[in-house]
Amino acid sequence: MSDAVRLLYSQHRYPALSHPEAHPGTLCAAARCGGVIDPALPDDCDVLEIGCASGHHLLPLAERFPQSRFLGIDFSDTAIRQARKAAAAAGLENIQFEHADLTEWDPAGRDFDYILAHGMLSWTADPVKAALLSLIGRSLREKGIACIGYNTLPGWSLRREAAQMIKALGKLDTEGRGVDGILEKLATAAARNGTPYAHHLAAICEDMRRKGPQILDFDDLGPCCDPLHFTQVLTWAGRNRLRYLGESQLHQNLPPGLAPEALDALEPLTDDPILFQQTLDLLSGRTHRSSIFTTAGTNLDPITTTSVTLHFEVRLLLTSLPAGAAHGEILATFQAALAAAAPSTAAVTDLMEACAHRLGPRWDPAVAAKAIASWLYQAARLGWVELRADPVKIPTLPARPTLSPLNLHFARQQLGVVDAFHRTCHFPPAHQSVVAALDGSHSHDALVRLAASVAPDLDVRPWLAHLHSRGLLHESAGN
Ligand SMILES: C[S@@+](CC[C@H](N)C(=O)[O-])C[C@H]1O[C@@H](n2cnc3c(N)ncnc32)[C@H](O)[C@@H]1O
Repeated sequence: MSDAVRLLYSQHRYPALSHPEAHPGTLCAAARCGGVIDPALPDDCDVLEIGCASGHHLLPLAERFPQSRFLGIDFSDTAIRQARKAAAAAGLENIQFEHADLTEWDPAGRDFDYILAHGMLSWTADPVKAALLSLIGRSLREKGIACIGYNTLPGWSLRREAAQMIKALGKLDTEGRGVDGILEKLATAAARNGTPYAHHLAAICEDMRRKGPQILDFDDLGPCCDPLHFTQVLTWAGRNRLRYLGESQLHQNLPPGLAPEALDALEPLTDDPILFQQTLDLLSGRTHRSSIFTTAGTNLDPITTTSVTLHFEVRLLLTSLPAGAAHGEILATFQAALAAAAPSTAAVTDLMEACAHRLGPRWDPAVAAKAIASWLYQAARLGWVELRADPVKIPTLPARPTLSPLNLHFARQQLGVVDAFHRTCHFPPAHQSVVAALDGSHSHDALVRLAASVAPDLDVRPWLAHLHSRGLLHESAGN
């Protein structure tokens, strides 16, 4: 199995992706809310990524946090070569890549504040899974945070069966329909049958089609794709002295789509958080988790109150909050200040100061801080706002926009660029030459002219405004 995995990654390039849920700024906030006192801040920390592929997740972190130190390991030599090339092109000196098999790799006494293992646990054979968790357990510093992503059971069960069937059907595919053709046929056949089961199967097939062969070959249809029970992962982690803190994004602790009444029915389980979470997986059909752990010896804050939210930066995630999200003048004023800061983040304490200024004598610090802290905690758990430890400031749209040196390198390699919130932004092939022209030498008008000749369907001005709102455009150094 491990050889099949090795062969796949040495012969085919894994899609270049970044993962917002495994960003130290987000992990730090989630760990603090999970009880870790003073987790390392992203702007001064040591980060290890195990299975870093070509570094598309790690490199933008190194560019963003020049005082922190980053190390990526992977057993694909082509991926490591590409990662090193990108680091050199962007002039990054705080990142290293090692070509190594994690089962044999020796960290040589180094330990880390953050260890990231995204796309690893479910996608490797059992002995590699064991070695991965052992490596994390040995190399995580006290108060350190490990982020481990995996596919979950029971949500993934039918998908696993579907994947086996598609692989078998692929071997009989004499008509050359390919995976997409097989999936389309299965989805259509299933949709003819009106049962909930058939709808579920059809939805799985359609979702696989959306992923496309580039991802499917590594994921659902890869040589290894083992969904795992949450409780199983916790047992393995515990054997390696790792203690579960929660999910890496606060809102993922309660899977979306669950009715509040469903949660009420789980009330008797609140004393058993592990069984509670596994039951949530059963009820929601969740298919993936990104869980965070710290070392078993780390002291946790025994009564983490909602006031921890006051330490962070906050960002509005919705264009407008649901009706009834604001109660009273204090929260309404706070939310208006939050909306005014978007798309940038704002420090919670700065927003509170702005509210105090606005409300004058009607601002009672003791009442206001409590109301805001508890609203923020709920809002972050519902996915209305994001809490993070690092500020993300979006400057005004520059006259001659330029991508960061790393993103410029990615654009020239026809790869997706990574925005200020760590999401990868992909472009159609016809737009790539306009993306690569975001090098600080073109005015907006010049970009419009360039697009008219190479990508006539691209409406440049709103496109620039969109890229700008994602924090991708900077003033060129020469301006
Ligand atoms: C699914 S990809 C995930 C890449 C990246 N972490 C991400 O999520 O975008 C898995 C990566 O792990 C690497 N890998 C798998 N088994 C490994 C092992 N035993 N030692 C080192 N790297 C390994 C592969 O080469 C591949 O780059």
